[in-house]
Amino acid sequence: MLVFGVIGIIFVITQGALVWSLIRYRAKGNEITEPPQIYGSNPIELAWTVIPILIVFILFLVTTRTIYSLDMQEPPEGALRVKVTGHQWWWEFEYPDLDFVTAGELHVPKGVPVFLDLRSADVIHSFWVPRLSGKTDCIPNRENHLWFQADEIGTWYGQCAEFCGTQHAKMLIRVISEEESEFEAWVANQKLDAPQVPTPLNGKEMFLSLACVNCHNVNGIMMQGGFAPNLTHLMSRDTIASGAAENTPENLKKWLRDPNSIKDECRMPNMMLTETQIDSLVEFLTTLK
Ligand code: CUA
Repeated sequence: MLVFGVIGIIFVITQGALVWSLIRYRAKGNEITEPPQIYGSNPIELAWTVIPILIVFILFLVTTRTIYSLDMQEPPEGALRVKVTGHQWWWEFEYPDLDFVTAGELHVPKGVPVFLDLRSADVIHSFWVPRLSGKTDCIPNRENHLWFQADEIGTWYGQCAEFCGTQHAKMLIRVISEEESEFEAWVANQKLDAPQVPTPLNGKEMFLSLACVNCHNVNGIMMQGGFAPNLTHLMSRDTIASGAAENTPENLKKWLRDPNSIKDECRMPNMMLTETQIDSLVEFLTTLK
């Protein structure tokens, strides 16, 4: 509003002078006279140098104050705290006060400030959900902060905004803001261990017998990985591979058959699984609600 006020006054003065001159010094009839020719005026030169400098200086002070007030290093009162870790090429979301970890999709309650600790596990990434906040880099061995508040219910799309390798473009973010009660129900489910559902194709045994467990954790079943997304409640997510594909059994099979078919050069290797192994694994994965 201050900037608008300043430029408003300048606009009125300059445009007023222009319109006034047009009317006041209009040629009347056929009478054309040369106006007096003037060169240089120290007072005028001084005025239009000093006044803009003062204006810019005031705007600088005001803007700096706003930037510092937005750049919070400590969470605001009642904020939800989330540790965000950028990986090539997916996002890890840890809720330290609620004690669970998820990936790809960040659930938040509507109307509550969310304070993010931004880190990186490998190279520089940048967390950017344009409709909720500006972008902030995730830098290895450093912690940056960002906060936002979603005042409406909805799904807000974001994107890694710092080139981080081949799959930078498919390092997508979804922020899902929901009513407090819905958020709490989601949290309650995320905090549970993986549901133990019997699977006719011995999916769980298949999962435990393969290299999956070296990278992926499933709470209550196997906790020796952590390098790759936690799969405990995989089916509570709408997407897999950081938003690169919808989370459907068909896409999970496609992914297991060859992850590169969805995300070329992604960090999950093609495990050369047989169709029998894939069916059994997907049977297990789809129980992880
Ligand atoms: Cu991560 Cu670009």
